[in-house]
Amino acid sequence: MILIISGTNRPKSKTLKVAQHYQEQLQKKGEHCEILSLTDLPKDIIVSDLYGQRSDLFKGIQQLVSDADKFVFITPEYNGSIPGVLKIFIDACAFPASFFHKKAALIGLSSGRYGNLRGIDHLTGICNYLRMYVLPLKIFLPHIQNEINEEHSFIHEETINAIHEQIEEFVRF
Ligand SMILES: Cc1cc2nc3c(=O)[nH]c(=O)nc-3n(C[C@H](O)[C@H](O)[C@H](O)COP(=O)(O)O)c2cc1C
Repeated sequence: MILIISGTNRPKSKTLKVAQHYQEQLQKKGEHCEILSLTDLPKDIIVSDLYGQRSDLFKGIQQLVSDADKFVFITPEYNGSIPGVLKIFIDACAFPASFFHKKAALIGLSSGRYGNLRGIDHLTGICNYLRMYVLPLKIFLPHIQNEINEEHSFIHEETINAIHEQIEEFVRF
């Protein structure tokens, strides 16, 4: 199972729209995939699920993570890196079994001009520490507000093709 991590808990995030696009495209390829939006994390996760604590709500999330053999991390750029909540989520997951030797595709987005290039480098370092296999083809989506229309579809053919190429590689990965 592929688990798509929508890497922010910001309400109505662009990240979740991108996650939904990836889910649709992966399903078209016949892949079983689910989305975990970080809006679904326990509101008090820093108390309830770090350092040996485990809430009932997070048990279901941990099960999803444990069942996944591949991950698609979609992460917006917040202050030149990944959102803090994404790192907290990773820290809250069972170590090492959650991510060890599993596979990951990484996608960055931003309203600014860099598409979370720096954050994706940081996330690559984290994934490497967790001994994940990271797909070399990463996708960066700068100026995301100009990429998605009112119907939440991607507008530019170039972007659609780039995402398609990454998905094809990730299915074979
Ligand atoms: C706390 C915070 C920090 C942000 N920092 C950056 C940044 O460093 N660079 C940038 O281009 N955009 C930054 N943004 C704007 C996001 O790129 C923008 O919200 C975009 O729509 C993607 O994030 P979303 O999934 O939250 O919608 C920031 C947004 C927030 C909420």
